[in-house]
Amino acid sequence: MLPLASVHVLLLILLVFASAAFQSQTETISNPSKEFVTSKADRMELLLLDRELISNLVQYTEELQNKVHVLQRFAMAMSIPIEAAKGREEEYLSNPLHSFRLIRHMHEDWRQLEKFMRQPGGQDQINFLKEKTMELASREDAEDATEAIYRIVRTYDVQAADIVQGLIDGVQYNGSISAIDCFSLGTLHFQWGEYDKAAQFLSFSLEMVEPEYYSVYDVLGFASSEVFMLLARCLVEMDLEDDARTTLMAHPSLADHSERLLTLYTNTRHVQVSEELKPDLTEQYNQICRSSHQNKPSRLHCRYNATTTPFLRLAPLRMEELSLDPYIVVYHNVLSDAEISEVVRIAEPLLVRSSVYIVEKEKSKKSTARTSLGAWIPDHDDKMDVSGWPLVERFLRRIRDMTGMKINEQQYMQLIKYGFGGHYDLHFDYFNSTRKITQAMGDRMATVLFYLNDARHGGSTVFSHLQLKVPSERGKVLFWFNMRGETHDLDTQTIHGSCPVIDGTKTVLSCWIKELDQMFIRPTYRPGNRNFIS
Ligand SMILES: *[C@@H]1O[C@H](CO)[C@@H](O)[C@H](O)[C@H]1NC(C)=O
Ligand SMILES: *[C@@H]1O[C@H](CO)[C@@H](O)[C@H](O)[C@H]1NC(C)=O
Ligand SMILES: *[C@@H]1O[C@H](CO)[C@@H](O)[C@H](O)[C@H]1NC(C)=O
Repeated sequence: MLPLASVHVLLLILLVFASAAFQSQTETISNPSKEFVTSKADRMELLLLDRELISNLVQYTEELQNKVHVLQRFAMAMSIPIEAAKGREEEYLSNPLHSFRLIRHMHEDWRQLEKFMRQPGGQDQINFLKEKTMELASREDAEDATEAIYRIVRTYDVQAADIVQGLIDGVQYNGSISAIDCFSLGTLHFQWGEYDKAAQFLSFSLEMVEPEYYSVYDVLGFASSEVFMLLARCLVEMDLEDDARTTLMAHPSLADHSERLLTLYTNTRHVQVSEELKPDLTEQYNQICRSSHQNKPSRLHCRYNATTTPFLRLAPLRMEELSLDPYIVVYHNVLSDAEISEVVRIAEPLLVRSSVYIVEKEKSKKSTARTSLGAWIPDHDDKMDVSGWPLVERFLRRIRDMTGMKINEQQYMQLIKYGFGGHYDLHFDYFNSTRKITQAMGDRMATVLFYLNDARHGGSTVFSHLQLKVPSERGKVLFWFNMRGETHDLDTQTIHGSCPVIDGTKTVLSCWIKELDQMFIRPTYRPGNRNFIS
């Protein structure tokens, strides 16, 4: 029995580490090359590995059971003569056969048994598991996955009760999450200062604890006392001290310390992580992302635009104008299936975690504002296979045909892939900078976005100022001007983002048309609202 003081110290330690407690026990740096959140193929490997590890575990239990079985037999065999001697020991020991047997047995058999008992059971399975830990998901993967669900919960306004039932943004998903999953979500919401949501998840975690799995929770290092403590702490942050007290009193090993814990929580208020480390997910963006948002009916109609190039006279594209100011259009059925699979094939090996360009620092940085993978085509390090060039040229020609704009031969495109929870906060595509990034070709005058697949749920492109949502649908192309026609003023109405993907992935190909490439077809006036290019 531990003295009270050390129980308190222990609780304190638990409390300090409550946030990272569960994860820290499963620390591994493994498989940095895998993208378990973004890539379903990589997740498939995890699923298959899980299946393999379960069958390994079953083999392990069989090995142990075999050993138990042998030991039970052994005990039974050894007990027969000794049972027979019960009550007539004198007679037993005067029999020479029994005497011989006893002495031989007491010399050899127990020594042999000791050797057998020492033999590790299931060593092969233990080694197999150890070997496979290299292929497990890392702590960073687990954090990324938790953050992905956080974004879905936040953007689509999902209640903890709905997540637990599998209901997200009006769609019923199969399957559920466990008490430990709920604890992870509660912990993340707590860290980010969303105590109300955290308390909801923690309460569900407690509700989902299944008494028949207590021994499993022990192995997993999951203690319900941690959930109770974190829940009480959330309630203190929400100024609900009485509820916090009731929560602590409800746990047998916390009840005696409840007043001390309450004082501690009240005196050491939680410092939430800096806003910079959280995605923006503004309410305006969230609202439009939700399925409850419908674009305003517009009187704009579809027509075949066959005016820009001779190509379009032969193959007119169905064009839909979504907005006239700023000018935003969608072209339908632009790409063939073969073109789509070819561009994905070229880009797939070049994908890396996307970053955000920081104009002041003149470099790109990994950011929570954007959670996707990206690949430059062609890539900057010439890693792209030369067989991709004709396709790149074909895409650039298609852009020229659609938009009537001039496209530089050295134009880069970027393939962007969003996995579940993958998003891009509201942003502008232009840089508004006099620095290096815009010196050669000017700023990004227009954006062309090819949608390469259907995101089954979520993943729309949204223009918050225009209250406009564009679902990600395979084969269509979104085109808009980031500058105003006459003046080339940067158009702040083009602020846009990408909603978190819920189901499936979203793959797009982006191309930014440069201002100075248009010099001879669109005369530039002196722009009024930005940094000048000197
Ligand atoms: C749930 O499972 C059923 C049967 O397997 C399937 O038909 C249905 O499409 C699934 N629902 C979702 C949202 O995945
Ligand atoms: C065709 O598209 C171009 C570029 O988007 C546009 O300037 C032109 O007005 C369109 N023509 C028609 C008939 O809509
Ligand atoms: C561009 O930057 C300049 C200088 O910082 C600022 O005055 C202007 O408002 C910015 N323009 C836009 C459209 O953000």
